[in-house]
Amino acid sequence: MYQAPRGTQDILPEDEKYWRYVEGTASRVAELFGYGRIRTPTFEDTSLFVRGVGETTDIVNKEMYTFQDKGGDSLTLRPENTAAVLRAYLEHGFASRPQPVKMYYLGSMYRYDRPQAGRLREFHQFGCEVVGDGAPTVDAEVIMLAWRFFEGLGLRELTVQLNSIGCPECRRAFHRLLVEHFASHKEELCEDCRRRLDTNPLRLLDCKNPQCQPAIATAPSSADHLCEACAQHFGDLKEMLGALDLPVVLNPRLVRGLDYYTRTVFEIWPPAVGAQSALGGGGRYDILMEELGGKPTAGIGFATGIERIILNVQAQEIQLPEVAVPCLYVAFMGDQARIPALLLADQARRRGIPAVSALSPRSLKAQMKHANNLGVRYAFILGEQEVADGTVTVRDMAESRQWQEARETALTRLLPTKG
Ligand code: HAM
Repeated sequence: MYQAPRGTQDILPEDEKYWRYVEGTASRVAELFGYGRIRTPTFEDTSLFVRGVGETTDIVNKEMYTFQDKGGDSLTLRPENTAAVLRAYLEHGFASRPQPVKMYYLGSMYRYDRPQAGRLREFHQFGCEVVGDGAPTVDAEVIMLAWRFFEGLGLRELTVQLNSIGCPECRRAFHRLLVEHFASHKEELCEDCRRRLDTNPLRLLDCKNPQCQPAIATAPSSADHLCEACAQHFGDLKEMLGALDLPVVLNPRLVRGLDYYTRTVFEIWPPAVGAQSALGGGGRYDILMEELGGKPTAGIGFATGIERIILNVQAQEIQLPEVAVPCLYVAFMGDQARIPALLLADQARRRGIPAVSALSPRSLKAQMKHANNLGVRYAFILGEQEVADGTVTVRDMAESRQWQEARETALTRLLPTKG
């Protein structure tokens, strides 16, 4: 028996209500904020992610699904979508549009990660990107959008974890401080962190290995070592978020796992768990456009993990809106009613009435049982007599009543009420 590949999952019809709820809320909230949806390809040139996400990151080093196509090009299933959105911004000359350009996306991402609850190899993100404006107001609006999305889902007890990691200039000085600090604790660090000391010292700060925690606890904080402009930006942002009254927690250990971030970084955490289960995360990436060959252009965004969100929606027992079930079942008895039944179901659907028709000849009892299982409100029954006189037997499943009437009036009764 074949099984879905490890780290992937089938999303079954009965799960659809969760997906529709989360994705519907995402589109609604993003559009309320004036964002337009962008759909980029599922795969891109490998070098886009290597340049964009960064050569020293786990994503690029360990987690990419990279393959050579039959033409010999190296392609990668997207592990994230920010680099691709910027590629599209450059490719389509969005710099000549009014700035900033605000975009959102929903789609599948791929990372060769160790699968566990809420961590998959194929997963789905809702994300937003605002490109072309560096003002702290944009940071505040993006964080507000993320928050309104989670609030719109009805999720409770979340927090916004916030930090600033500065610009490349203030970061150079901060890196020196970090390396100095961790070098003096080298013996206590895990193997990964010893390597990171040379490649990406900032990442030491969010190592989860218990062995590294004492050294991390006494490490300097990036937010205390910002240049004047970055400190001003961060101060303004904190003031705005304070005015918005969001549950912001300043987290000096928050550094994020992608290399393109500058200044603001943030994550949305569920109650009582850490970054391993972040529902979403993002930040500013003012250096990314240049990295991808464009002119310096400010940008900020975030992405959220839909599977993780659904796990939390289920854990918090959030009441979902009812998903419409078909309201009509068309049953038939006898060969001569088979085609009229198909046509009657079609007539119903063309008027917007969701209808299921019986397909194989079965006893009326079996057909009514099927109708019952589907949860339909009405069954239409066509037999020899109904076919002959152009009527239908209508059965009200909820009230166990039935009567015969003209097909036209029966259909009208089922028309969706407007309003
Ligand atoms: P990220 O933190 O790598 O950021 O991913 C964002 C969210 O995607 C995570 O918070 C998590 O909810 C979900 N996620 C990540 N990996 C997995 C996985 N293996 N299984 C299930 N869910 C996962 C980014 O992707 C950035 N592009 C966000 C961004 C947008 N920054 C600026 N703009």
